[in-house]
Amino acid sequence: MATITLDKIVKNYGAVQAIHGIDLEIEDGEFVALVGPSGCGKSTLLRMVAGLEDISDGRLYIGDKVVNAVEPRDRDIAMVFQDYALYPHMTVADNIGFGLKMRKTTQSDRKARIAEAAQMLQIENLLDRRPAELSGGQRQRVAMGRAIVRRPSAFLFDEPLSNLDAKLRVEMRTEIKRLHGLLGRTTIYVTHDQVEALTLADRVVILKEGRILQEGPPLALYDTPTNRFVAEFIGSPQMNMFDGTVRHSETGVCVEIGDLRLPFARIDTADGVRVHLGARPEAITPCVPDAADVHTHVEVYEPLGSDTMVSAKIAGVMAVVRLSPETPVARGMDLPLRFDRSKLHLFSTKTGERIKTVLGTV
Ligand SMILES: Nc1ncnc2c1ncn2[C@@H]1O[C@H](COP(=O)(O)OP(=O)(O)O)[C@@H](O)[C@H]1O
Ligand SMILES: [Mg+2]
Repeated sequence: MATITLDKIVKNYGAVQAIHGIDLEIEDGEFVALVGPSGCGKSTLLRMVAGLEDISDGRLYIGDKVVNAVEPRDRDIAMVFQDYALYPHMTVADNIGFGLKMRKTTQSDRKARIAEAAQMLQIENLLDRRPAELSGGQRQRVAMGRAIVRRPSAFLFDEPLSNLDAKLRVEMRTEIKRLHGLLGRTTIYVTHDQVEALTLADRVVILKEGRILQEGPPLALYDTPTNRFVAEFIGSPQMNMFDGTVRHSETGVCVEIGDLRLPFARIDTADGVRVHLGARPEAITPCVPDAADVHTHVEVYEPLGSDTMVSAKIAGVMAVVRLSPETPVARGMDLPLRFDRSKLHLFSTKTGERIKTVLGTV
C-alpha cells in the first residue's frame, strides 16, 4: 500500500521556514496535484517525500512506516523532473534500463521491462536512438520510461512539462493521465499551471507561502473557493472581482457595487462590511435590457470558436464575459448583462476569506 502521509511537515532553510507544518494524506493510487505560484514550496515538499531533502520537523509515512530517515533509493518511489538529464552517449534503451542495471537486475528481466515500458509509452521504434536524435516530447517519454521500469509504488513529478511547447504539453498531459490509468500508482504532481492541475488530478492541493490554502476535487475548488487567492488562482480567464459593500435594510440584504445592487436572502456579515464580489466570466450573461443588472458595451472581443470572450467595463472594472459563439458581437455594441445569482462569490476585503451567502430575496 503506497499511501503517503505528511504529518506536520516543516522545512527550515537556516532561519527561514519554507514549509510551515503541512498535513496531507494521499490514498493508494490517488493522483494529487500540488499547485501554487513559484516559490511557494512545491519542489521542497516533493523533494522531502523523495528523500532528496531533509525534513526539519514532522513525520513522513509511506504506507504505515515512518520514512524520514530512509534513503531515497529505499523509498520505492520514482521521480520525474523538468530537466530529464538523459545520458547523451547512451541509447534510449540503455537510458531507460540504466537504473535497473545499477540495481543488478538480470539482463533478461531488464530487457523485458524496457520493452514493456517502451510499449506503454509508444516509443518502441526509438529504442536504438540517442537523446540528440529525439524531440522534446520523446525525451520526456524516455524520462518517464526510466521511472516506469523501476515499478515503483509511487511516482513524483516536478513540473515535467514546463520545457515543452504548448501543444506538446497538452499531448503529454493526456499521456500522463493515460499512464496513471494504466498503472494505477499513487502520484504526486507538482505544477504552477492550474489548468494542468485541474485536468490531471483527482485532488488538487493549493499551496501559498509554504501552507495549504485549500484542497479538494478540481470542480470543488472551481465552484467553492474558500478564499480570494484560490478564487483568482483557479480558472482561466480569471474570476472578475468587484469592490462592494454589504447593506442590510428593512427590505433585505444586498451587495452594493457602485450603482448596482445585488440582493441575497442572507449574507453572513454585518452592515457596511467591505467585500469583493467574484463572478467568473460565465456567471455574467447577456440578457434583454429590462432584465439587466448592468448596461455596458463591448470594448474588445475575442472569438475563440468554442466561446467568445468579451471585455466590458462593469462598475469601473474591466470584466471578462464569456458568450456563446452564436451571440452576435461588435466593438462598441450595447451589452445588457445579468449576474447569475447562483454563481457569485463573496470574500471579505479584510481577510480574503469566503463569506457565506444564501440565495434569493426575503
Ligand atoms: N536550498 C535552499 N536554500 C535556501 N532556500 C531555499 C532552498 N531551496 C528552496 N528555498 C526557498 O524555499 C522556498 C520554496 O522553494 P521551492 O520549493 O523551490 O518553490 P517552488 O517549487 O514552489 O517554486 C523559496 O522561498 C525558496 O527560495
Ligand atoms: Mg519548483
